[in-house]
Amino acid sequence: MRLLVTGGAGFIGSNFIRHVLAEHPDDTVVNLDKLTYAGNRANLADLEGDPRYTFVRGDICDGGLVREVARGVDAVVSFAAESHVDRSLLEPDAFLKTNTYGVYVLAEAVRELRIPRLVQVSTDEVYGPIADGAATEESPLRPTNPYSAAKAGGDLLALAYWRTHRVPVVVTRSSNNFGPYQYPEKVIPLFVTNALDDRPLPLYGDGRQVRDWIYVLDNCTALDLVLRKGETGEVYNVGGSHEVENLALTREILRLLGKPETLIQPVTDRPGHDRRYALDSSKVARLGWAPRHPFAAALEATVRWYREHEAWWRPIKSGEFRAYYEQQYARR
Ligand code: NAD
Ligand code: TYD
Repeated sequence: MRLLVTGGAGFIGSNFIRHVLAEHPDDTVVNLDKLTYAGNRANLADLEGDPRYTFVRGDICDGGLVREVARGVDAVVSFAAESHVDRSLLEPDAFLKTNTYGVYVLAEAVRELRIPRLVQVSTDEVYGPIADGAATEESPLRPTNPYSAAKAGGDLLALAYWRTHRVPVVVTRSSNNFGPYQYPEKVIPLFVTNALDDRPLPLYGDGRQVRDWIYVLDNCTALDLVLRKGETGEVYNVGGSHEVENLALTREILRLLGKPETLIQPVTDRPGHDRRYALDSSKVARLGWAPRHPFAAALEATVRWYREHEAWWRPIKSGEFRAYYEQQYARR
């Protein structure tokens, strides 16, 4: 397949591109990425020079550029997004532009160029908090923060393009991913890298919020399957089915690093903090998918990866991130 991947210089997109080119040697990938603070070409340094891989710096909101790079591809896989809830509380503007308007631009290009597939990568956060049980693809969308509301906009817009214009869309809604190359603003890489430096781990509120964690490579296999075998117009939940309270996750990270729990620093809660997310992933399982990385082993491998890749995260943490961190955590 000839793929256009948007946002492929970020965390999940870069893992996905590496996965696809390893699993499907005849595929080619054009990676369209704006290189925001979260985009990093170093995430795919190993593919630079590979004739199957082309990087294009640009914005998915630029319809002319999108048409130029999308012409002739077999599918668009749409990862590009502003992805951090806390930043969406400070500066929502870019979230609305990329996460909603940007998806509209992609859907229009796919429609006009008659591209056979658009995979819109959405999130479990569009369902909002779930007190009991798990969200199915039929559950109502009740996003609670600007990030998830803007993602729900893109998600629903993509589905609307299927219903109204028969644009061949599939949507995935995955739970919290973790693994290599995740920007260290997100809780797992933030806590691992802070702990490595004996710095405090800012745990929001009572730390009893629950997230369903999935190892990024398991999400990549689900995305690859949905891309090739998913039914057009359908939504697929992709969860790790491994729910953990933030406090337990934090303790486990400290245990793996041999660091004391005195590093845990309770801080003021995130406004509107969703208590729990949970996904029913039986639909994508019926397509033939199963997660292959048990949580404990995958977390251990992830902690090891950050320990062994200081050269990747140190420049990030001393660059743009430092000002963000001071602003974000000074307020708590
Ligand atoms: P990320 O922040 O690591 O990467 C986002 C990438 O998109 C970056 O490379 C950035 O430069 C690029 N980008 C941002 N705006 C752009 C624009 N206007 N045009 C082109 N490129 C742009 O995010 P991630 O964690 O890899 O998430 C990827 C996708 O998966 C997002 O759509 C996110 O909503 C979704 N998702 C993430 C998670 C998770 O746990 N990380 C869970 C569910 C869904
Ligand atoms: P995060 O990685 O930001 O993902 P999301 O908000 O999309 O689920 O946060 C995961 C959980 O960890 C969430 O409940 C908020 C919490 N958290 C903290 O307690 N402290 C932190 O510094 C961060 C970034 C997150």
